[in-house]
Amino acid sequence: TISLKNKNFLKLLDFTPAEINYLLELAASLKADKKAGTEKKTLTGKNIALIFEKTSTRTRCAFEVGAFDQGAQVTYLGPTGSQIGHKESMKDTARVLGRMYDGIEYRGYGQAIVEELGQYAGVPVWNGLTNEFHPTQILADLMTMQEHTPGRALKDIAFAYLGDARNNMGNSLMVGAAKMGMDIRLVAPKAFWPEPELVAQCQDIAKQTGARIMLTDNVQEGVAGVDFLYTDVWVSMGEAKEAWAERVALMKPYQINDAVVEATGNPQVKFMHCLPAFHNDETTVGKEIEKTWGLKGLEVTESVFESPRSIVFDEAENRMHTIKAVMVATLGE
Ligand code: CP
Ligand code: NVA
Repeated sequence: TISLKNKNFLKLLDFTPAEINYLLELAASLKADKKAGTEKKTLTGKNIALIFEKTSTRTRCAFEVGAFDQGAQVTYLGPTGSQIGHKESMKDTARVLGRMYDGIEYRGYGQAIVEELGQYAGVPVWNGLTNEFHPTQILADLMTMQEHTPGRALKDIAFAYLGDARNNMGNSLMVGAAKMGMDIRLVAPKAFWPEPELVAQCQDIAKQTGARIMLTDNVQEGVAGVDFLYTDVWVSMGEAKEAWAERVALMKPYQINDAVVEATGNPQVKFMHCLPAFHNDETTVGKEIEKTWGLKGLEVTESVFESPRSIVFDEAENRMHTIKAVMVATLGE
């Protein structure tokens, strides 16, 4: 039997396919319990610290609602206001928070920081996004894919990720797909493919799981026959503003629009995005993009984002159920 009690959740590379499946099944059962009004609290009296060195809507709310549903309390430490980083090292912070809290979420910059926190805290540490990985997002994505392909195993699912394939989403989707034996196509300009070391590591995993990993800069080839089209922002949190101009020019051919949907040859193809997404000019940044490049939307067009094939809000909801599952599995009584 599988137990993840007292374990950290820092990256999917640390978990077996069976353990990932266990988390997905737990999330599905917690979701069903919540909808039925029969959820049992397994975190009563626990205290949870939520460290966010970058901003968040979904991840923070998912941790807070998941914790409250299960009977735990949370403390939010935002990008400013604590001593973390500027006055106090992560190693010291870890040992302080570990004395007060039963579990710690961390969103920030280098993966090495969350690994250090996990090494010294003495309580479970969960990665809420680093520059390299976003593992809780992948659990939600896999859960959402399963819900939209009833009767099919993850092994029988093909999806294409278009855009910045060397960011946390490209990396983590590749690891997740490799672990679960899926057919993934990373469709991006060559300069934006994941690090060769990580690709090699995933190819190794794929040999055992039967996963197929394609890296291509050819959209037609990449999207042919897929069940899901996935994309993310072209410039991630923490990247320099100067990256935008070059990035937009390079990534434009990888925008998910009606032509790309058509190119899949699959009338049932679904659209996914971890969010937030630039799909119109209704945000401050969206307005800037329209003013600077004359584009209404970047990585995805409004026509695809708002179409019935878009399952982005199912995905967003599932952040909560899957994050709750991670907390329950590692900390629950
Ligand atoms: N998808 C995601 O992590 O969203 P937030 O940045 O809002 O947490
Ligand atoms: N790649 C994005 C993901 C946001 C959920 C970022 O890091 O900003």
